[in-house]
Amino acid sequence: MLDVVELSRRFGGLRAVDGVSLTLPEGGITALIGPNGAGKTTFFAMLAGFVRPDSGTVRFAGTDITGWRPDLIARAGLVRTFQITQPFAGLSIAENIRVGAFLREPSPAAAMDQARAIGTRLGLGGMLDRPAGSLTVAGRKRLEVARAVATRPRLLLLDEVMAGLNPSEIQEIVGLIREVHAGGVTILLIEHIMAAVVALASHAHVLAQGRLIASATPRALAENQAVIEAYLGHGAAARMAAHA
Ligand SMILES: Nc1ncnc2c1ncn2[C@@H]1O[C@H](COP(=O)(O)OP(=O)(O)OP(=O)(O)O)[C@@H](O)[C@H]1O
Ligand SMILES: [Mg+2]
Repeated sequence: MLDVVELSRRFGGLRAVDGVSLTLPEGGITALIGPNGAGKTTFFAMLAGFVRPDSGTVRFAGTDITGWRPDLIARAGLVRTFQITQPFAGLSIAENIRVGAFLREPSPAAAMDQARAIGTRLGLGGMLDRPAGSLTVAGRKRLEVARAVATRPRLLLLDEVMAGLNPSEIQEIVGLIREVHAGGVTILLIEHIMAAVVALASHAHVLAQGRLIASATPRALAENQAVIEAYLGHGAAARMAAHA
């Protein structure tokens, strides 16, 4: 469904994403993990058209979408969420979800019906008419997912939708992601919380300093020496083994 070849982007002298290639099968849940600053969000931004790649190609559902505008990529069915959520605080939660629904539904009333149905399905039912500015962090994450789902994506890119949540809120978001996936959406998620990655993803890719350094099942990656060193520094795997 997604075929990325040698994708790269520099910011000044920094190689934020450096020759990353990966393919994603249709229908799965895959994770993208890696330390802070590894280039994960920049990678998502390039897939979704928010950052232009310096080189490389992105093929989605058989079409080369490299360099396309975000709205055209979204219309093709590839949509991202944002790590830093910025709902329209003065609009209601339903109106915020409707912003997503407008991608495919021009009628305001019909788009609102869709928004309310999606909000209800994703656990925002009791609060749809409240201003989005009144939401907690967990509620804002939920709204961010609902707004993206309202565009009816085929591939949804989730950027740290569990960051800042407590364990029970994380459990709820794991359930919500399963619900979205069960609705037929392929998912690629950036996540630091490994328990959630293990619970959700059948496969994970590891980015470190812009490069893809490993791809395997989440459980196998947790024991991979290169992955441990990417997170904890050179020699960390050996130090951990010595103390085991
Ligand atoms: N617009 C930009 N201009 C300059 N540098 C940028 C820009 N966007 C990202 N960077 C830099 O590129 C590198 C990768 O950033 P990115 O946000 O993609 O990492 P990340 O893996 O998502 O990190 P985190 O886990 O902290 O969210 C970082 O060093 C960051 O400072
Ligand atoms: Mg990021």
